[in-house]
Amino acid sequence: MSKPTFSLSDSSSGRSIELPVRDGVLGPSTIDVGTLYRDFGVFTYDPGFTSTASCDSSITFIDGDKGVLLYRGYPIEQLAAKSSFIEVAYLLIYGNLPNQTELDEFSAIITNHTMINETLNSFYRGFHHDAHPMAMLVGVVGSLSAFYHDHTDINDPKDREISAHRLIAKMPTIAAACYKHSKGEPYVYPQNNLSYPANFLRMMFAVPCEDYEVDPIAERAMDVLFILHADHEQNASTSTVRLAGSSGANPFACISAGIASLWGPAHGGANEAVLKMLEEVGDVGQIEKYVAKAKDKDDPFRLMGFGHRVYKNYDPRATIIREVCHNVLEKLGNGNDPTLELAMRLEEVALRDEYFVERKLYPNVDFYTGIIYKALGIPTNMFTAMFAIARTAGWIAHWMEMIADPAQRIGRPRQLYLGPEKRDYPGITTR
Ligand code: CMC
Repeated sequence: MSKPTFSLSDSSSGRSIELPVRDGVLGPSTIDVGTLYRDFGVFTYDPGFTSTASCDSSITFIDGDKGVLLYRGYPIEQLAAKSSFIEVAYLLIYGNLPNQTELDEFSAIITNHTMINETLNSFYRGFHHDAHPMAMLVGVVGSLSAFYHDHTDINDPKDREISAHRLIAKMPTIAAACYKHSKGEPYVYPQNNLSYPANFLRMMFAVPCEDYEVDPIAERAMDVLFILHADHEQNASTSTVRLAGSSGANPFACISAGIASLWGPAHGGANEAVLKMLEEVGDVGQIEKYVAKAKDKDDPFRLMGFGHRVYKNYDPRATIIREVCHNVLEKLGNGNDPTLELAMRLEEVALRDEYFVERKLYPNVDFYTGIIYKALGIPTNMFTAMFAIARTAGWIAHWMEMIADPAQRIGRPRQLYLGPEKRDYPGITTR
């Protein structure tokens, strides 16, 4: 049977070309345009990568129309109900769920890497007390490359694996220290007999002068949130990590680039923006006004936590988070938090509105997360840092997959040039 091809013809020259079509395991086929410029002399144009697959990947699959999300084939609903973040991190990196021995070994390795070099702690002192945690995170994670550069050979699979372990292990320590710095409280060292989420909560909220016990409800909620945010295929921050890494750059620097990309309000920064928006809306009587603002093309206001490039259906993560949210608020005694009521009413109004229906704009992962974080005592400006802790597992899994791919080349998009034609340099007096 002949291989499927896609033909493209140029009406002005009458030439045509057959391009190979590649089928994935799931999802739409892709037209391989890799030889298009060489053989046909044209580029493809797709700003925002709306129709462009940038790589092969076996890590995560999303069906945006059906609202499906799979990590290595496993539905997110099953992982959120039955797994732990550490197990999911293993799954993303190694491709399969660990058996008990593998899980114990992996947990022990991650636990052994949770401390950060004491000198790194002094970096925080260079930041003003009100520095945004994401700004500190970009800087401190990037500076890890100064600690692990000469000894990191990215061509050695073992070194890549150690970098992955270090990053997953140290992110909660680094993020919690950002919070402690902003509070003016001493940094809390990791405690290795705790689970990954419990350790993080303790580093956030313990103080040296008091005992601190992690609430198991908060611990499980945190673990589920970490699972839900762990990966999302070729989103902006993951693509940033891949692009930065495609030049052979240090992995810690690449993850720092990913954190920078995540920070924006169109991406991971949306969770912080949602809570600020709900505070601004204030009460249910104001909902119609803000929905009207979101629809007004002359107003830059958007309904934060709504819409997604890939999901044209309810984001499956939002469905899970909505449920966790009710559970957490009820059990932690914040059942009457008016923010949740406000969010639910806003969702209801938007989902009935023609504008949102037509454009298939549904709540995304960030719509309800802020309400849970708030209930757990996490301040608004730390929300995106929480996302970054979890997404580090996905970023590093993608970086490892990319470096190990024999077809890997430096990422180098082309452009449609619209600047001036060639012109002569004029002397300063003639300008
Ligand atoms: N409020 C109002 N209108 C919206 C919204 C929104 N939240 N999102 C999209 N639209 C409109 C947009 O104006 C456009 O309308 P029209 O066709 O009339 O010009 C249409 O819907 C399509 O939007 P788009 O901006 O072309 O879609 P995109 O795929 O480029 O952007 C998005 C996706 C997530 C950036 C966008 O929906 C958005 O800005 N949402 C709010 C921010 C947010 O919640 N981001 C978190 C995303 S999920 C977590 C993550 O990825 O990190």
